[in-house]
Amino acid sequence: MDLSQISDSPLTSFCMFILCLLLARTVSGEIDRQYLACVTKTCGDGQNISFPFYIENQQEAYCGYPGFNLSCNDKGNPVLKLSSDTNYIVEKIVYDNHSVHVSNAAFSETNSDAACTFTRIKNVSLPAEFQLAPDQKQAVFLYNCNNSLPEKLLRHKLLAGNCSGDDTVLGMFEDDSDLDSASKQCKESAVAPVAVDMNGEGMGDHIGIEEMVRKGFLLKWRASDCRVCKESGGRCGFDADTFHFQCYCPDRPHAKQCTPGMYVS
Ligand SMILES: *[C@@H]1O[C@H](CO)[C@@H](O)[C@H](O)[C@H]1NC(C)=O
Ligand SMILES: *[C@@H]1O[C@H](CO)[C@@H](O)[C@H](O)[C@H]1NC(C)=O
Ligand SMILES: *[C@@H]1O[C@H](CO)[C@@H](O)[C@H](O)[C@H]1NC(C)=O
Ligand SMILES: *[C@@H]1O[C@H](CO)[C@@H](O)[C@H](O)[C@H]1NC(C)=O
Ligand SMILES: *[C@@H]1O[C@H](CO)[C@@H](O)[C@H](O)[C@H]1NC(C)=O
Ligand SMILES: *[C@@H]1O[C@H](CO)[C@@H](O)[C@H](O)[C@H]1NC(C)=O
Repeated sequence: MDLSQISDSPLTSFCMFILCLLLARTVSGEIDRQYLACVTKTCGDGQNISFPFYIENQQEAYCGYPGFNLSCNDKGNPVLKLSSDTNYIVEKIVYDNHSVHVSNAAFSETNSDAACTFTRIKNVSLPAEFQLAPDQKQAVFLYNCNNSLPEKLLRHKLLAGNCSGDDTVLGMFEDDSDLDSASKQCKESAVAPVAVDMNGEGMGDHIGIEEMVRKGFLLKWRASDCRVCKESGGRCGFDADTFHFQCYCPDRPHAKQCTPGMYVS
């Protein structure tokens, strides 16, 4: 039999093709699809977002933990939605100690046309995955207050920019001795946590309090730890079907970490 006849037969070519395919797979190794998908992403501000957080429409849900979905605002900041209608800008994520510094997006969303309206904030209601970091204070904003306030409460009055404004707003810390009498003069209130050490001076000063609320607070989160997987060269994720942590490795997903010594991270 002539050799050229063998290699010319369509069946042989097909077999060769399959053989090459199999060889290519085992030699070069096909990189796991989920591992590739879960590379860190950014909204544009330089912060690298990775597990347990993920950016919706940029990263797959399996790259993060349920409830840790972020979106991007038009300024390139990642945004965390804590309750149905309250957005927080993610200022800094510290992956090592599971904490995230957020600021109230209401302040940056206010347009300059409305400069004479005091930014309304809403009470923070935290989902189960998040809790306030310790050693933070609670600031109280009181809205719709009586225009003719008792003298001693005037020092708590907040001004919207440079305008007199129709709405009288008071601001003070939760432990202020004036809070009881102030509450009687106002119709609505909202409470906001503030990270005291992060904001430094200005404490107790009514000019400072708005700035402090603007700067935001620190949250701790509860989710599987990524360290072991990451150090083994993997990328963390979560399988929503089995409700289990996943460590996506170049070869395949593993339960905790990639096969030791197999990859250089
Ligand atoms: C984000 O990742 C890029 C690429 O790995 C790196 O150059 C940059 O320093 C990282 N940024 C931060 C804030 O860690
Ligand atoms: C995250 O997902 C929840 C549920 O699908 C959704 O209500 C929320 O708006 C999302 N958060 C952000 C910041 O897009
Ligand atoms: C986490 O670490 C950062 C940076 O080291 C620090 O500012 C922050 O206070 C820590 N968070 C907690 C909750 O300890
Ligand atoms: C505002 O305070 C004044 C003086 O205490 C009081 O007479 C008045 O009834 C209050 N107005 C309202 C709307 O509560
Ligand atoms: C407030 O108005 C005064 C006088 O019109 C002006 O000098 C000052 O710069 C204004 N401050 C702000 C914050 O706009
Ligand atoms: C916010 O919380 C405070 C106390 O925790 C409560 O008195 C107030 O009514 C709440 N405000 C709203 C709008 O739910």
